[in-house]
Amino acid sequence: MRVVIAGGHGKIALLLERILAERGDQAVALIRNPAQVADVQQAGAKAVVCDLEAASAEQVAVLLAGADAVVFAAGAGAGSGVPRKDSVDRGASVLMADAAQRAGVRRFVQISSMGAGQPPQPGRGEVWAAYITAKTAAEDDLRSRDLDWTIVRPGGLTDAAATGRVRLAAPPVPRGTIARADVAAVIAALLDEPGTRHQTLELTGGNSPVAAAVRST
Ligand SMILES: NC(=O)c1ccc[n+]([C@@H]2O[C@H](COP(=O)([O-])OP(=O)(O)OC[C@H]3O[C@@H](n4cnc5c(N)ncnc54)[C@H](OP(=O)(O)O)[C@@H]3O)[C@@H](O)[C@H]2O)c1
Repeated sequence: MRVVIAGGHGKIALLLERILAERGDQAVALIRNPAQVADVQQAGAKAVVCDLEAASAEQVAVLLAGADAVVFAAGAGAGSGVPRKDSVDRGASVLMADAAQRAGVRRFVQISSMGAGQPPQPGRGEVWAAYITAKTAAEDDLRSRDLDWTIVRPGGLTDAAATGRVRLAAPPVPRGTIARADVAAVIAALLDEPGTRHQTLELTGGNSPVAAAVRST
C-alpha cells in the first residue's frame, strides 16, 4: 500500500511511517522543510517537499498519483496563532481532500481532535477556539466529500511508549490521554480496514488491543 502522509515530519507521522515501513507498505511524507528529509528517510518513508499552505490542489494531486490512501497528520502545532489554525488545521486538510478527489485516491484518514464537532469550550482562549473551529470545519468538509474517509479524534497526546491498548468508539468517549505511538498504530490498522469508512471515532488510552478495537468499530 502506498500512503501519502500530510505533515510527514509530525510526531505521529514519523511513528506511523515506521509501522508502515516495517509491514512493507510505502509511506510518502509531505514536508515543508527540506532539513527534515533525513529524519523522514530514517523512519522508512520517501520525503517530498510540499508546503501545504502554499501548494494548489492540482499540484498536490500530482503527488498523490498512484497512492492508495492519504493520512492527514499535519497541524499548526503549539505556539501557532489563530491564522495558522485556519490555514493548516482546516485549510491543509481541505487541500488534501480536494487533491485526493482529483487524483482518485478514495481512502482518507484524518487526524482531528477530541473537542471537535462541538462549540469551543468558553474560557480557553481565542487560539483554542480557533483550533477547535478549524478542526470542526475540516471534519465537516471531509464528510461532505465522496471519499472513503475516517475521522479520528484523539484525546490529549503524550510521548509515552506504546501500550497497544486503546478505547476507540463513536463519540462521546470520556476525555483522556493517549500515546502518539498508539494513535499511529490505530491509523495503520484503520488503513487496513476499509469497513471503517464514513465513521467519526474518538480515541484514548484504554483496554482493547488495537486490532480488536478497530475491528469492533
Ligand atoms: N497535542 C494534542 O494533545 C493533540 C490532541 C489531539 C489531536 N491533535 C492533533 O494531532 C495531529 C498530529 O499531532 P502531532 O503531535 O503528531 O503533530 P506535530 O508533531 O505538531 O506535527 C504536525 C506536522 O505538521 C507539519 N506542518 C505544519 N504546517 C505545514 C505545512 N504548511 N505544510 C506541510 N506540513 C506542515 C509540521 O511541520 P513543521 O515542522 O514544518 O512545522 C509538523 O511536522 C495534529 O493535527 C494535532 O492538532 C493534537
